[in-house]
Formats: sequence, C-alpha cells, structure tokens
Amino acid sequence: MLTPGMGAVSTTFMAGVELVRRGESVPVGSLTQLGTIRLGKRTEGRVPKIKDFVPLAKLDDLVFGGWDVFPDDAYQAAVKAGVLESKDLDKVRKFLKSIKPMKAAFDQSYVKNLQGTNVKKGKTKFDLAEQIREDIRDFKKKNKLDRLVMVWCASTEVFLKPEAVHQDLDSFEKAMKANHPAIAPSMLYAWAAISEGVPFANGAPNLTVDIPALEEFAKSKNVPIGGKDFKTGQTLMKTVLAPAFKARMLGLNGWFSTNILGNRDGEVLDDPGSFKTKEESKLGALEYILQPSIYPDLYKKIHHKVRINYYPPRGDNKEGWDNIDIFGWLGYPMQIKVDFLCRDSILAAPIVLDLALFFDLARRAGMRGIQEWLSFYFKSPMCARELYPEHDLFIQSMKLKNTLRWMKGEDLITHLGAEYYD
Ligand SMILES: NC(=O)c1ccc[n+]([C@@H]2O[C@H](COP(=O)([O-])OP(=O)(O)OC[C@H]3O[C@@H](n4cnc5c(N)ncnc54)[C@H](O)[C@@H]3O)[C@@H](O)[C@H]2O)c1
Repeated sequence: MLTPGMGAVSTTFMAGVELVRRGESVPVGSLTQLGTIRLGKRTEGRVPKIKDFVPLAKLDDLVFGGWDVFPDDAYQAAVKAGVLESKDLDKVRKFLKSIKPMKAAFDQSYVKNLQGTNVKKGKTKFDLAEQIREDIRDFKKKNKLDRLVMVWCASTEVFLKPEAVHQDLDSFEKAMKANHPAIAPSMLYAWAAISEGVPFANGAPNLTVDIPALEEFAKSKNVPIGGKDFKTGQTLMKTVLAPAFKARMLGLNGWFSTNILGNRDGEVLDDPGSFKTKEESKLGALEYILQPSIYPDLYKKIHHKVRINYYPPRGDNKEGWDNIDIFGWLGYPMQIKVDFLCRDSILAAPIVLDLALFFDLARRAGMRGIQEWLSFYFKSPMCARELYPEHDLFIQSMKLKNTLRWMKGEDLITHLGAEYYD
C-alpha cells in the first residue's frame, strides 16, 4: 500500500490500521470493514459483511510505504500532524518508525507553500518517473509482495487545465521528456504506477490521472484508476442535503460554505493556485445534483460560494460552516445552518483504506480504467467523458453495492419490491 505523501491523512491511516490489527480499536468509518450488503429479497435475511462477501485483502496482509518531501518517518510525521494523541501513537510507535519515506518527485512550482529536502534529482520528468518505478519494484521485492496499490495522499497541486500534451500517451511521454510545465509531479507517480500495473486512486483534487493519456494507458495495462479528492466533511454533507432538497422539490437560492483549518493542508491551500484546484472540486457537486437546466424554477439562480481560511490554532480539527438559503411553497424563504466541527484526517483515513482494498479487488476482477462505482469516496468523481459525474451520496452507495453484487453474480437490487404485495 503505497502513498505519495506521508502527512496527516496517510499517517493517521497507517496508525489506525495497525491499532485495528492489534485489536486496540474498531475501524469506524470503513465500509469495507464494518459495512454489510443485502442480498436477494428482504425476506431472505441474507446480509453478509462486505469483507466476507467479496475477497478483499486482509488488514494483516497490508504493508505500508510512501514518499514525502520531508525525511520524517511516519511516527515523526504523525506527531507533527497532531491528529492522533500520544496515548494512541505510543502504542504503534515502533511500527510507525519503521516506515520511512522514499525521496519525492517534487517541484515547488506546483505546491508553492512547501519546501523540503527529501527530493529526487533527475534531468527530466521522465527520469523522475522512472525512479518512482524503481522504488515501486524495490518495495515489492523487499517486502515479498504479490500486489500493490497506490493512493495519492500528498498536497494539493496548483490548478492545471487539460492541454494537448494530456490528450494521448505519446504526447504525454514526450512532454515528460521535454519537462513540459503541464506535467505535474502527481502525474509522474500515476504514470509510474500504471506502468507497473499498480492501481492508482487520487485523494486530492489535482488533475493527475483525470486526463485521456493516462486513462488510455490504464486501459491498455488493465489497471484501475480513479479520483479525485476524498469526500470527507463539508462536501459529504452537501451531497447528503442537496439530494434531499431536490427529492422534495424545495428551491435553493444560495449556499455559502466556509472553512477554518490549521493543518499543513490548510497552509498549502492558502496559496491561490492550490486553493483554485480545491475550489473547483468543491463547487462541482451542487450543479450536478440540482440540475438547474432541468429545474429552472428551483435552482436557476444559486449563489454558491466556498471559502477556505488557514487558521493555525485549529490544527487538523476543521470547522466547516454552511449557510443554506432554501425556499418552499409560494417561494417563502427558509435557512439551514450546518456547523460541522470535524477532524479532517479522522474522516479521510478509512476512505484511504477502503479505496486501497476496493481498487485491489477491481484489479483482480479484471476491471480497468476509471472505476466510477467508487465515486462514493470522491468529491469530484471521474467518469466517462460523455457522462456527467454522479454526486448524490445515496446513488453512489447503491451503485457501489450493486457493483459488488454484479461481480458476484447476485441479483441487483432495484428497491421496486412489488413482489411482496402480489
Ligand atoms: N483530510 C481530508 O479530509 C481531505 C479530504 C480531501 C482531500 N484531502 C487531500 O489529501 C491530501 C493530504 O492531506 P493531508 O491533510 O494529509 O496533508 P498534509 O499536508 O499533512 O500531507 C501531505 C504530504 O504530502 C507531501 N507532498 C507534497 N507533494 C509531494 C510530492 N510531490 N511527493 C511526495 N510527497 C509530497 C507533503 O510534504 C506532506 O507531508 C491533500 O491534498 C488534501 O487536500 C484531504
């Protein structure tokens, strides 16, 4: 299990898996570990745990590795991130100390507010990507592993638009060799992972693997890919509430979302380039869920604003406020306020675990390219070019579970249920 980036999310994930393996904790928030799946009719009473229904890798079989621009081992990084308390970290200190970051493929022009020393050297971006491939092979050999999976847990890069060099693999590889500015470091990890047959999931909003060149490459190598941006706090709530308004045909005038957070992610997002990437990712959901062109009376004039403010005293404990202006019968206005005092990495860690296990499963099931059925986990889900992304959490959840049923040859569940009343 490889993570570019060994910061707050990644180390909270690693520490948590080890605590669960030792029986010290329960994997709260993880669908693969705690979730069940109903099979057949409601009268049959068949509700296995997902992990008993599909052959997921066992937690005991996971081995962790990663890259970071800072040389801190996972224990030091976790202490600095300040997410977990020492009463938890002390129990897994030795384990975390043994996970040391490999040198990162990094370029400060893509993450302005970050400077580090544990960085690879190479003449071209292609050379750096080849070094990542070597790291992957070495990690696999050293740890005697059968399979690998990579989840991007590194910082959010500056906003990049798809360009000509992203359109096909040949142009992409030429651009890597020519050090083209449209090739960000995250793309080098993605290219290296696909080259080595390793599934790649993108936990940040960077463009990364969401380009035709890498999609084509993933398909040709039979590698599953997906992204972007873990759906954790505020957007999770948005994709729960907005479908409810739409289901009841309640109107929306505006949605103002603001956040204060003080972790390194917050510091990186303080740069306008990285913030723009995050903003685009956070803004998309409402438009797709509410479909203003189909419901102009309800959603034509939505004022949607997203703000992220770096505020160090809060550390990883983010506060996300939402003010939602809705309207009902005869246009009478109402307001909803959501104040989510959340813990970013506590919400993200189980998503990293689920993505790793499901992407590995997908690879073994012969699924390749974009894994839209895992949209459930992403703020800005990748999907086929001719489709719009599905953001509604409940549709995403149904899609995920139906995909598991389909993999195992079980009947899909439509929730029609007419047979109970024949
Ligand atoms: N926590 C959440 O709720 C959440 C939700 C959605 C997305 N994310 C995204 O997940 C990512 C990780 O979040 P975090 O809180 O752990 O951030 P973090 O800053 O604690 O950790 C990111 C790490 O990545 C490293 N890094 C940056 N560029 C790198 C590169 N090219 N190669 C290797 N390492 C690199 C940094 O040095 C840092 O240690 C961020 O992009 C964040 O936006 C987090």
